[in-house]
Order: sequence, then structure tokens, then C-alpha cells
Amino acid sequence: MIKDIFHPGKAIFVEIAKQLRKGKLPEYLPKGILLYGPSGTGKNAMIEALVNESGCLIFSIGATELVTNIQGSGSSSTKEIFVRARRANPNRGVIILINELQSITPVTTDQSTPLAHTRSGQEYDNALTQLCIEYDQCSNNDNILIAVTCNEFFRINERIRSRFECIKFPCPDENGIYEILKNKSEYFGILLSYEEIERYVEKLNGLSGRDITHFVQNAKREISLGKTKEEALALAMQHQIRAARDARENSNRRFNQLRDEAIRGAVFGASGTITKALVVSVLAGIGFLGLVLSDNKDNGNKGTSPSHK
Ligand SMILES: Nc1ncnc2c1ncn2[C@@H]1O[C@H](COP(=O)(O)OP(=O)(O)OP(=O)(O)O)[C@@H](O)[C@H]1O
Ligand SMILES: [Mg+2]
Repeated sequence: MIKDIFHPGKAIFVEIAKQLRKGKLPEYLPKGILLYGPSGTGKNAMIEALVNESGCLIFSIGATELVTNIQGSGSSSTKEIFVRARRANPNRGVIILINELQSITPVTTDQSTPLAHTRSGQEYDNALTQLCIEYDQCSNNDNILIAVTCNEFFRINERIRSRFECIKFPCPDENGIYEILKNKSEYFGILLSYEEIERYVEKLNGLSGRDITHFVQNAKREISLGKTKEEALALAMQHQIRAARDARENSNRRFNQLRDEAIRGAVFGASGTITKALVVSVLAGIGFLGLVLSDNKDNGNKGTSPSHK
């Protein structure tokens, strides 16, 4: 249910669900929404709630599934999903959901990536172009809502960003953590007092809705294994902190790896250029020396030849 998902700008989803339930999408609502934000912040949960509450149909696909190595696949599979959605049921609203759009967009924002010049790169671009064409062709009578999710908003190019209503899904603030924690603990049947929730709100700061859900889930498991509520919460918290720390270490390691590769690339790139420059200069030098010598030889010959005459 939409009410169970914490989001600061929930009103638009409530209205979309209401209208989709009536089987129409009035002009004051967007034809397309782009849900962006860190992993586990409720983007897909919100779309799922929209579908459950409105009873509309959903066609869901991962962005990378739109593309194969076959020429033209990017545009044909995108077109196909829209054809199927239009045919589906004219009396019910339809959501076309395209997940993880950032996985096919870098090439269109950065032509310098090697991917831009591969067949898949071109197909990614075709898929996005077709998505824009289909978006423009959708009329309000189609009752189709195009929903796109993505983690890295900076990878979304202008063509997409300017068409879609972009809605941010941030990690929850204190209010959000409170709501999610209260909701999930009720769902899992763990009774938490106001003070207990408050205590854990502080500890869970910076984590996503998914992390908070895992925290409550782990606590429930410990309780079912015989721990007291306090012990279970403490163990689940330790687990969560460890997981968050390990993830951070991993991403730091990856960052350092990328940085080292970049530095190595720059140094070797530069030394490669220097070596090339040296080789060219040496060759040019040898060539020049050769010319001078042969010139001298010629001149010598020229100089001597008249006397021979
Ligand atoms: N804002 C939230 N309110 C309530 N529950 C949430 C929220 N965010 C996440 N959750 C919980 O975490 C689960 C995973 O969230 P979801 O799959 O929607 O994340 P996502 O934003 O789509 O992540 P990803 O970018 O990794 O696909 C949800 O099913 C829900 O139980
Ligand atoms: Mg998701």
C-alpha cells in the first residue's frame, strides 16, 4: 500500500493510483515518471503499491533486456512493449515499467566511452531514442503511465530527463526511519515502545529503507531462535553495522583500485607518449643526419667531379 511507503512527496502517487483505478490518466498528471535515488529507497515498492492500489496492468522490463547484439533490437523491443501495452486492455490503466535505466544510458551521455562505438552501445542509444518516440506518441487516451527507475541520476541524459517527471527517492531522514521502523516492526510482530524506536532511529541514520527492513527481519529471526527482544535488536544492529562497514570498505577498495588504474594509465600513457616522441625524434635525427651526410657526399662528389672532368 502507498501509505506504508515513506516518501516526502507521496501525494502524486496517491493521485495517480486514484486516476488509474478509474482507468484514465488526466492531462494534469505526467505521462512518464522517473524514480531515482540510492538502492533500497522504495522506488520499486512504490510502483508495486501503485499497481496493487489501482488494479492496473503492468509490463515490466529491465533496461538491459531491451537490447541484444542484433542490429535494430534496441528500437524494436522498446516498440514491442508499447504495442503490447496499447493492445492489452483499453478499459484499464497500464504501467510500463523500465528498470535500472542508468545501465543503458552512459553511452549517450559520454561519447568517449569505448561502449559508444560498439554494437550494444548503438543499440542502447536506439532503445532510448525509441523510448522518446513512444513517449511522444502516447496520448492521454492510451492511459499508459511510463515509469522508469534509476540509481544514478547524473547518467540520465537530457532527452529523458526533460520528458519525465523526475521524483527523487532519498535515504529516509529521521522522520522516515521512524515511520519505516514502526511500520516494519508492526508487520513482523515485534512490539517496540516509542523510546525503543527513538533509540534505534539514531543508530539507523544514513541507511536505506531496505536496510531498515533487513534490520527488523534479522531481529525477528533472532527472536524466533529464542533471544529476548533486547538481545535480538542488539544482534541485528551489530549485523547491520558490520554489513554497512564492509560495504563501505569494499566501495573504498574499488575506489582506490579505480584511482590507481587511472594514475597508472596516466603515467604509462604519458610515458608512452614520451617514448613515442623520443623514437620519432631519434628517427628524425637519424634521417636528418643521413640527409646531411648524403648531401655532403653529393656535394663532395659534385665538388670533385668538375676537377675530374
Ligand atoms: N521508503 C520506504 N518506505 C517503506 N519501505 C521501504 C522504503 N524503501 C525501501 N523499503 C523497503 O525495502 C524494500 C526494497 O525496496 P525497493 O526494492 O523498492 O528499493 P529500490 O529503490 O527499488 O532499490 P534498487 O535501486 O536497488 O532497485 C521494499 O520492498 C520495502 O520493504
Ligand atoms: Mg528497484
